Amino acid sequence: MKTIFSGIQPSGSPTIGNYLGAIKQFVDLQHDHDCYFCIVDQHAITVPQDPKQLKENTRSLAALYIASGIDPNKATLFVQSDVSAHAELGWMLQSMTYMGELERMTQFKDKADGRSAVSSALFTYPTLMAADILLYQANIVPVGDDQTQHLEITRDIADRFNNRFGNTFTIPDIQIPQVGARVMSLQEPTKKMSKSDENVRGFISMLDTPKQMEKKVKSAVTDSDGVVAYDVENKPGVSNLLSLYAALTNQSIDASVAHFSDKRYGDFKGEVAEAVVETLNPIQERYNELIQSTELDDILTEGASKAENIANKTLLAAKDKMGLGK
Ligand code: AMP
Ligand code: TRP
Repeated sequence: MKTIFSGIQPSGSPTIGNYLGAIKQFVDLQHDHDCYFCIVDQHAITVPQDPKQLKENTRSLAALYIASGIDPNKATLFVQSDVSAHAELGWMLQSMTYMGELERMTQFKDKADGRSAVSSALFTYPTLMAADILLYQANIVPVGDDQTQHLEITRDIADRFNNRFGNTFTIPDIQIPQVGARVMSLQEPTKKMSKSDENVRGFISMLDTPKQMEKKVKSAVTDSDGVVAYDVENKPGVSNLLSLYAALTNQSIDASVAHFSDKRYGDFKGEVAEAVVETLNPIQERYNELIQSTELDDILTEGASKAENIANKTLLAAKDKMGLGK
């Protein structure tokens, strides 16, 4: 059975982009893979976080994973900082990573935006991500396509370690969904939808009310063309709504285009909004039950203990190979 690892940062309310690009795939994979799904709170602190809010976001993300269909009896769900091996291996891997490699990371360049007053952890972020993945000897990492570069550097680091110290880590493959790999902002459809967008109308949070969802879809930027067609270059707004619809209803883009071929933008947006609400409504109902229960804390405690068992084995092997410890 292949091993899967993936993580999401508890840095705000997850969006429909996180759902389609990441969580929805996780749910499908858990049935026939050994899955580890992690709430990467140590990645979240690479930018300033309010401590109380961070804890709340961590719990909330855990509840959303489960409400979306992650079954804690099938997959291991845990919080990164509960398993100290991540930070330890992350440090070791920093010694195997070049400044030049990290300087090429587009996520760092975007987030730092030329400023030097950003944390050094934002810069070394990919080495911690590599540790996350390699500790579990993951074969497959399902993520949205913005993580491609981070997966490449993970593979390079693992390969370098194996060559220098002997076979220690499995080299992981990336897995990107066919539709929904990159949900774009509803207001600036050439930019990725992000939970940290200052303009809240740009993203749909998994916890928005049905009214908010509807409003956001209806005010999504389109064009003056009036034709529902898929053309990312010339019609980014309409194309984004089409891929949203396709991913939510499990159809191909072609089938979705055919479905809307003689519809006006108003009706088109109405149906997209309906698909969003229909998907997120049941998730929210389960979420509301979970967030008030202690069940959630028990799941995370048990998840951390299962994860720790595996992670510590790999950590010990890697330390030994590097000559660390007594
Ligand atoms: P993050 O919110 O940056 O921690 O991302 C968690 C996961 O969601 C990663 O696998 C991302 O690739 C995925 N993701 C985030 N935003 C989007 C988006 N707009 N479209 C598709 N996938 C996304
Ligand atoms: N960097 C990922 C993101 O921002 C989150 C992440 C951290 C991750 N560690 C991971 C994803 C390990 C997959 C595997 O989306």
